[in-house]
Amino acid sequence: MSDRQKTHAAAAALDYIEDGMTIGLGSGSTAEIFVRLLAERVQDGLSIKGVPTSEQTADLARELGVPLVDVDHVDHIAVTVDGADEVDGRFQLIKGGGGRHLREKIIAQASDLMVVIVDEGKLVDTLGKFPLPVEVDTFGFSIAAKQIFDGLRSAGVKQPDVHLRRKGDGLAPFITDGGNYILDCACEAIPDARAVDQALKAIPGVVEHGLFINLARVVIVGEDNQARVMEL
Ligand code: A5P
Repeated sequence: MSDRQKTHAAAAALDYIEDGMTIGLGSGSTAEIFVRLLAERVQDGLSIKGVPTSEQTADLARELGVPLVDVDHVDHIAVTVDGADEVDGRFQLIKGGGGRHLREKIIAQASDLMVVIVDEGKLVDTLGKFPLPVEVDTFGFSIAAKQIFDGLRSAGVKQPDVHLRRKGDGLAPFITDGGNYILDCACEAIPDARAVDQALKAIPGVVEHGLFINLARVVIVGEDNQARVMEL
C-alpha cells in the first residue's frame, strides 16, 4: 500500500478526462486521491460532472467543489475511475473492500469506459487472496451465507470461509450505503470467476458481489516513480 504509487496512478487517469464529460467517481483511498486531483482541474476551469459511487465520495466531492449530478438524472457516463482490491491479468477485479461495490458496479457498467487505478500490490495471478465481499439483504442473511458457501464450493473454491462483516468496534454489523450486510468470503483462490459470478447471482438475498468481470478496459498501475498504463 503506497500513497506515492496510488498518486501516480490517479494522476495518469486524468488523461482520460475531457471537458464536458460526466464521470463516475469511485470509492476508496485511491479513488479519493483521484477526486482531489480532479478538483484541482475543476478549480482551473475544467467543466465536468461527477456521479459518486458512495456517500463518502459524494461528501468529499462536495467539500472540494466538484459538481455532482444525481445518478437518476444522468443519461450518459463517459468514464468511471475507481480503485480495486485485486486485479488479475485479464482485468478481472475484486472490489468492495470498503463495502461500496454495488454502486461501483452499477456506475461502472453504465459507463463507456472503466479506468482502474491501483498500486502494484493489487496485481495478482489468481483472484481470491482478498476475501470476496458479497452484499446481502439483512433478512435471512444466515440462510444466504450457507447458500453462498455451497455456491462457492460448487464453483471450484476449495475451502470458503464466509463471515459477516462488522464495524470497527467488532460488535455491530457493517451496514452498506444501501442498508444491507456484507458477507466476506475468504476463498484463497478463485479458479473460475465466471462460475462464481453465476453461482452467487442464483442465490436469493444476494444483492451484489465484488467480482468485476468484463468491466475494466484500462488498468493504471502506480509504481514508485511513474504509472504503467495497460489497455485491453
Ligand atoms: C470500495 O468498496 C472498493 O471497491 C475500493 O474501490 C477498493 O476497496 C479499493 O480501495 P483502495 O483504493 O482504498 O485500496
